[in-house]
Amino acid sequence: MTSDRWQSLRALPLSPLTHLFDADSARVSKFGLEQAGIYFDFSKTHLEDKTVAAFAELADEMRLSNRVEALLSGEPINISEGRAAEHCAERGIGSPASVDNAQALHQRMKSLVEIIDSGALGEFTQIIHLGIGGSALGPKMLHQALKLGDEKYELEVVSNIDGVALEPILERFDAGKTLLVIASKTFTTAETLMNARSVLDWMREEGVADPLGQVVALTANPEQAVEWGVDETRILPFSETVGGRYSLWSSIGFSVALALGYEVFENMLAGAAGMDQHFQDSPWDQNIPVLAAFADQYYAQIRGCETRAVFAYDERLGLLPDYLQQLEMESNGKSVTLEGEKLTLHSSPIVWGGVGTDAQHAVFQLLHQGTHLVPVEFLAVAEAGDSLDPAHHNGLLLNCFAQGAALMAGKESDDSHRNYEGDRPSVTILLEDLEACSLGALLAFYEHRTFVNAVLLNINPFDQFGVELGKQMANELADDDGNRLDASTEELKKRAFGA
Ligand code: F6P
Repeated sequence: MTSDRWQSLRALPLSPLTHLFDADSARVSKFGLEQAGIYFDFSKTHLEDKTVAAFAELADEMRLSNRVEALLSGEPINISEGRAAEHCAERGIGSPASVDNAQALHQRMKSLVEIIDSGALGEFTQIIHLGIGGSALGPKMLHQALKLGDEKYELEVVSNIDGVALEPILERFDAGKTLLVIASKTFTTAETLMNARSVLDWMREEGVADPLGQVVALTANPEQAVEWGVDETRILPFSETVGGRYSLWSSIGFSVALALGYEVFENMLAGAAGMDQHFQDSPWDQNIPVLAAFADQYYAQIRGCETRAVFAYDERLGLLPDYLQQLEMESNGKSVTLEGEKLTLHSSPIVWGGVGTDAQHAVFQLLHQGTHLVPVEFLAVAEAGDSLDPAHHNGLLLNCFAQGAALMAGKESDDSHRNYEGDRPSVTILLEDLEACSLGALLAFYEHRTFVNAVLLNINPFDQFGVELGKQMANELADDDGNRLDASTEELKKRAFGA
């Protein structure tokens, strides 16, 4: 039945974008939706009334309403791990017990921010936040987006096991004034714990009498943090039901709350809650995350697009593509359905991107004239983030808008080398300003869009078993327990470490 629905979606006639505009004078208002000071322009996608209607029928067939309800009421929808996915409870939407729990844990986090701010634990001015994946990408991206540069604390987020990432920070920081924040949901992640040990060694070498006294742990496994040596009063737990890539809203946001102020964190939660409400209440054809997912599925399944490119026309949002890569690819990069059967649709597109205008001079050639059809997402902020000549920001925005227009319009030339086919889709997301509230709403939009895509694909977006095998093999290689791996890997190991 569902495959029939996909067949009928594939059978819909394809109209070029410019024809869609010519045929419907209301297209811009119909496909331009606003929420929380963010304007989402889907008009330059191939969505039209009949596509939206067909996808809405598919959504009903996939019981999207029930799935949204299940997500937002804390049902155990992460079926492979038998638990709920309760990131929205952090923002106030969920089962009453989970919302209460999240609020109590936020309160605890707020108190610790106040205690540290008061100087009661030491005169800290520098923070090293250690974590990886969801325990680093969100805090790092948020901090880069919202910092003003005059904050009381200097924050560095380090994730890689490569000492090249950590060493320059240790050379620059003052051990006595450094707060070490260890962020790990499981508190077992090799990279994070190795970096943490190195920071503690450095503190000791620099004469800090009690390095563990300068540690805060953010984790869903507090017992493990205690065992590791962190004092219980400085452990900020969060719920096991908050997934790593959805954990920014939990105590994983602590370093940002400390560095930028707790109210920034609260505003981010409030912005996200507004988007949650919109997602919960809006009909599919007015529902921003749902429409975005319809467009995603249209390009992935009907037009065969294997990637989606995201370009932030704002340096402050430069880490957003990295954040979205984990959110979308770790969530929806799956090969089996909820029932465990082989997925016959394309799973998550490969999400890639960069910063405009830089990317225009590097990768846009392919977007305009390459043989791949790549749906592009542009992000821009109307309010400038700098105080230089307004020509800078105006130029930035104009470039952003021009790219979307050029991709769509194309330009005919008798010289085939100079011909632009056009009809290349884009979505433009224009934020009024870049504040904690709007950023919170934007990130919640991406989470819900990822969820809707998963529902339409009938997959579980909340597990990530695909990352385990590589971790296991790294341990096996390190153990050198006589179990031979393949000959190529053995040779690489021999060359790197000697026989
Ligand atoms: O290896 C993948 C992963 O489990 C991500 O899902 C997670 O965000 C990251 O590692 C870090 O895990 P943890 O927070 O448990 O250290």
